[in-house]
Amino acid sequence: MGAEGSAYVCGICGAEVKIVRKPVQDPKCPTLLCCGRPMTAKHAAGVTTEENIKEVVKGRYEACAERGGGEGAVCCPGETPASPGFAAAHGLYSREELSLAPDTALTLARGCGNPAGFADLQPGEVVVDFGCGGGIDMVLAAHKVGPSGKVVGVDFAPHMIERAKQTAAEAKVTATTEFVVSDLERVALPDGVADVVISNCVINLCPDKEAVYREAFRILKPGGRLAVSDIVYAGQIDPEVRARLQSTWAGCVGGSIEEDRYFQIVQDAGFTSVEVVARHPLQPKELEEMACCPGPEFTPVLAKEDIASVEGKVVSIKYRASKPARRG
Ligand SMILES: C[S@@+](CC[C@H](N)C(=O)[O-])C[C@H]1O[C@@H](n2cnc3c(N)ncnc32)[C@H](O)[C@@H]1O
Repeated sequence: MGAEGSAYVCGICGAEVKIVRKPVQDPKCPTLLCCGRPMTAKHAAGVTTEENIKEVVKGRYEACAERGGGEGAVCCPGETPASPGFAAAHGLYSREELSLAPDTALTLARGCGNPAGFADLQPGEVVVDFGCGGGIDMVLAAHKVGPSGKVVGVDFAPHMIERAKQTAAEAKVTATTEFVVSDLERVALPDGVADVVISNCVINLCPDKEAVYREAFRILKPGGRLAVSDIVYAGQIDPEVRARLQSTWAGCVGGSIEEDRYFQIVQDAGFTSVEVVARHPLQPKELEEMACCPGPEFTPVLAKEDIASVEGKVVSIKYRASKPARRG
């Protein structure tokens, strides 16, 4: 393995890639950088290291937002440019909810659930959306909390935040929405500001999930709630496949962790009353879409064999949890 910045020819496909720093898994194994398929310069730029995961993820969502969802405007091949994101395409939003979401939000939607739909939001509540993306869940939450409530979208991709602002304007909810460009591992919001934190298919992308959950706990008021859709692993993943997924931080699958460990992190952050609302093993087509989120022009598409080997073991979860109320 060459030094940082040096050119390198992949032992499998012969493509030339540039080493940024050491790969996440095994610095001696060049195949990790390849995914078993020819690696283009674009894909090489997506190679992740322990240090640059967030830069790579941010770059992909920035590019996607800049291009209004990208050429395909969806995760992966086979869909038409105007088709909505995964959650909308897979019926996770009701017809009525979809009618509230403007095109900007639908085109950029990259969630795996509908947290505003199961967060039991009440009029007047303050909701913070962790990783708001193009703002689809912000709009739905804004309708539920009404004119006396507030919805704050947090995302580290500035262009995504601009799109979310556009969404809010198109949906006529600017008066009750606010936006913060911030990393979820250090959220630029004060303690105890939120009644509810929602998040839709974001925390799997974050390398330090402990920090994200600590931040969710910190910004919630005592007695506040969490409603999250995310992706986790259920079952053993072949270590080599896992290394390949992680080495490209492949879409919403590469950064996923085992379900048990995931919920341990939620509880270690201080949350109680964890209640799983739904669990859905991703079907092959769904898995393909998720694994190259936000789209194949931004994230390397996984090899078919790798997808087949994790089939049935990648699960979309929806759950609620609470921050304990202050005693006395
Ligand atoms: C899969 S998209 C989901 C977007 C939105 N929740 C939805 O349902 O359409 C993930 C979003 O999380 C943001 N994100 C990922 N990691 C983040 C981090 N560490 N801090 C802040 N935002 C992050 C990305 O920029 C992107 O907009």
